Amino acid sequence: MPLVCVCSPKGGVGKTTVAANLAYALARSGSKVLVVDFDSQNALRLHFGVPIADNRGFVAQSDTLSDWSQFILKAGPNLFVLPYGEVTEEERLIFEDNLMNEPMFIQRGLSAVLKVPDLVVIADMPPGRNAALKAIEAAADMRIVVLMADAASLSLLPLIEQHKFLNKPHNHSAEDYYVVNQSDMRRTLSRDITHFFEQRLQNKLLGTIHRDECVAEANASQRAIMDISPVSAAAFDVDHISKKVAIILGLNVGDGSYHHTASIYSS
Ligand SMILES: Nc1ncnc2c1ncn2[C@@H]1O[C@H](COP(=O)(O)OP(=O)(O)OP(=O)(O)O)[C@@H](O)[C@H]1O
Ligand SMILES: [Mg+2]
Repeated sequence: MPLVCVCSPKGGVGKTTVAANLAYALARSGSKVLVVDFDSQNALRLHFGVPIADNRGFVAQSDTLSDWSQFILKAGPNLFVLPYGEVTEEERLIFEDNLMNEPMFIQRGLSAVLKVPDLVVIADMPPGRNAALKAIEAAADMRIVVLMADAASLSLLPLIEQHKFLNKPHNHSAEDYYVVNQSDMRRTLSRDITHFFEQRLQNKLLGTIHRDECVAEANASQRAIMDISPVSAAAFDVDHISKKVAIILGLNVGDGSYHHTASIYSS
């Protein structure tokens, strides 16, 4: 059941891209993966071929339904997505109110899937320290902070290190990890900031993802980076990061052959 939370104090840094491509990579190497969208932009589904007009999701009825798993869509072999869905302003406010005031709201909604022993759950968070992050941070087994190789992300590092973005993990073994995205080695500033992050974060840095046009192309085609451009630097970077995540989570990484799991509950 490991729960992985992909978050950032900053918007537009690549959280959804990382969550989606990490999910693709772990599923490809044999893990069963569910990605859950906690962002009202409802963009995660668009990385998995869900039609733009398909507005189903768990948030609109999250208040009345105690089990959100009926909104899970199958996105590929071993791969499942739970979209946020289209909501009214009122539904969104009710969801956020429950996140803030119902201590076990997320755990209850996801209780059925969190019981599936071999399922990796990846949560794609909205930017900043928001209600969803506050509700999920303590329950997460692994928190991945995505930053960009730029001055704006660099300026936020002290805030993260002082636990003003994420609270200190309760679970001693739960560590915070980082991904530095959109690194461009041809640009002096980007290169210098990447090197600074490498030295500062050491083994908390899962890896760096190069700025690469194929990432935007993969996103636009609703596919994985490794499917659109398997020999690109970004595909290599994501593969490297996913292998580290698999090791940290203690996943049984297979030989890369698909299991073709039909349901999230079957093995
Ligand atoms: N390594 C990369 N190289 C080139 N473009 C990238 C890379 N990573 C992400 N992008 C592009 O950056 C944009 C933002 O990415 P994404 O939506 O994943 O960020 P986000 O942090 O989830 O944003 P938000 O805070 O709005 O949720 C997208 O257009 C995406 O295609
Ligand atoms: Mg996003």
